[in-house]
Amino acid sequence: MDTRILRPGKPLSENDLLSAAEILRRGGLIAFPTETVYGLGADALNERACADIYKAKGRPSDNPLIVHIAEPSDAEKYAVVPELYYRLAEAFMPGPLTVIMKKRPVIPDRVTGGLDTVAVRCPSNAIAHALIRLSGVPVAAPSANISGKPSTTAFAHVYADLFGKVDMIIDGGECDIGLESTIVKIVGDGITLLRPGAVTVEQLSLFGDVTVDPAVTTRTESSAPPLAPGMKYRHYAPRARLTAIETDNAERAYEYIKAHADKNAAVLCCEEDVGCFPGFCIYKLGSRSDEMSQAKRLFSALRETDGEEHSHLFAVTPPLGGGVGTALHNRLMKAAGYDVLRLCGTVKIGVTGASGSGKSTFAALLAEKLGNAIVIDCDAINRDMLENDGKYQKTLVSAFGDGILTDGKPDRRKLGALVFSDAEKLKTLNSLAHPRIVARVSEAAADAERQGKEYVVIDAPLLYDTPLAGICDVRITVKADDARRSERLSLRDGKLPYLRQRTAAQERDFSASDITIDNSKALADLESSAEATAQAVKKK
Ligand code: TXA
Ligand code: MG
Repeated sequence: MDTRILRPGKPLSENDLLSAAEILRRGGLIAFPTETVYGLGADALNERACADIYKAKGRPSDNPLIVHIAEPSDAEKYAVVPELYYRLAEAFMPGPLTVIMKKRPVIPDRVTGGLDTVAVRCPSNAIAHALIRLSGVPVAAPSANISGKPSTTAFAHVYADLFGKVDMIIDGGECDIGLESTIVKIVGDGITLLRPGAVTVEQLSLFGDVTVDPAVTTRTESSAPPLAPGMKYRHYAPRARLTAIETDNAERAYEYIKAHADKNAAVLCCEEDVGCFPGFCIYKLGSRSDEMSQAKRLFSALRETDGEEHSHLFAVTPPLGGGVGTALHNRLMKAAGYDVLRLCGTVKIGVTGASGSGKSTFAALLAEKLGNAIVIDCDAINRDMLENDGKYQKTLVSAFGDGILTDGKPDRRKLGALVFSDAEKLKTLNSLAHPRIVARVSEAAADAERQGKEYVVIDAPLLYDTPLAGICDVRITVKADDARRSERLSLRDGKLPYLRQRTAAQERDFSASDITIDNSKALADLESSAEATAQAVKKK
């Protein structure tokens, strides 16, 4: 088939589009730009022309087409229009919103894949709008790509997929948004989101309760077909295998990619992170802080990778934050065939409290209730330093003399007896020990993150005396009344005078905590506090 290329002038002259409108009226196929992606249009009332769309794209026949209209009120001719449609239309049309409503018989079954509903959209792109208006017909148009490939967001993409298969391609440059329209279905007074796009859930929820179809965020089971038939097909797929990685830590993504990539792998990432993947071929998405710019680049970048012989692609994007990000992640997830990895930083939880408060018991219970968590025990680190860190041992001897040694190693009790009665000496000990403990905790936390742990519970008597409080996302203080603490301590450590000294030296201000746990009662109570705290942390 001969394909004409049309480049309408800027500013747009309608004369340029008259021949295009004529092609549509006569049952031809035209690829044209919209603000979302390019569309492959035909007269929606002409069954044969609509059948040609499916042929040109290689599209499964049960996947319905969106009907594009020039004015929001034109929807009346093709659908039974509820009042909510007009409220949505007033806010978002013309623009990137498609609304599904009960269809009128004038729309052929060919267009709706046999469904009794029709999808209606009024695009804002000036070329699309003029073309639909001049043709005088509703325009059925899927995205102008070969079925299964990424949608087309620039003339060159359309040319590569459809030249020779359609009557005309209109060159409208790059599409503004770069992801397909938001699709909603009106159900009673409510809105069901079938495909996320530039009109966001947050915006839609101002107009009614929004239910998100499970197919938007998860792989759909065959027992529950998605409400938009098109969402069940593999979509947007580049030639190479694609793994999507959600993270705010590009270094961590790099570690993962290095461990899983072969020599022909490439990375798609945000502009700010291009330096984080040395040795890999890089395709830039937009800016990390601007999801619209990432959305605009996504399909283009996926298509660029098709031009090279990559074996495996890794797309590294910030974690899902709502807004347009929902659409971006939805497309990435489908392009990756659900091969999605979330490397979102671990949540660090500091647990502190005076000796005998039961903070270590609580830390262990909390980790158990959180699941996928580890406990970093600062006391254990301290003991290990005394036992095994030769340099630290020497430092202590030069600060406090060799009276602190037993069998050649610093003795915790001797050291304690020395510093707990002398504030200056305690200060010296802390200045030697704390920076080392903090460094070891940070190392252990980074390790846990690399192992994919979601939570790190830091059991730290010194939480507020060190920078540890600052690196924690949540700070918890465990308290118990004095009687309970003394009871627990004497059971554990025996000698009371030493303990009194130690606890007196440890009086601290815990008022900066986010959560305070009272552990004056039974273990069962502490367990239910841990459960409740785990739920609260997970909600954060
Ligand atoms: O931004 C867009 O919406 C672009 C431009 C060209 O307007 N069009 C587009 O069309 O993305 P397409 O065909 O690639 O995607 C339309 C989606 C498909 O998943 C299809 O299953 C769904 O809309 N759809 C169409 N009519 C439907 C209906 N009556 N009920 C449920 N889903 C429908
Ligand atoms: Mg499509």
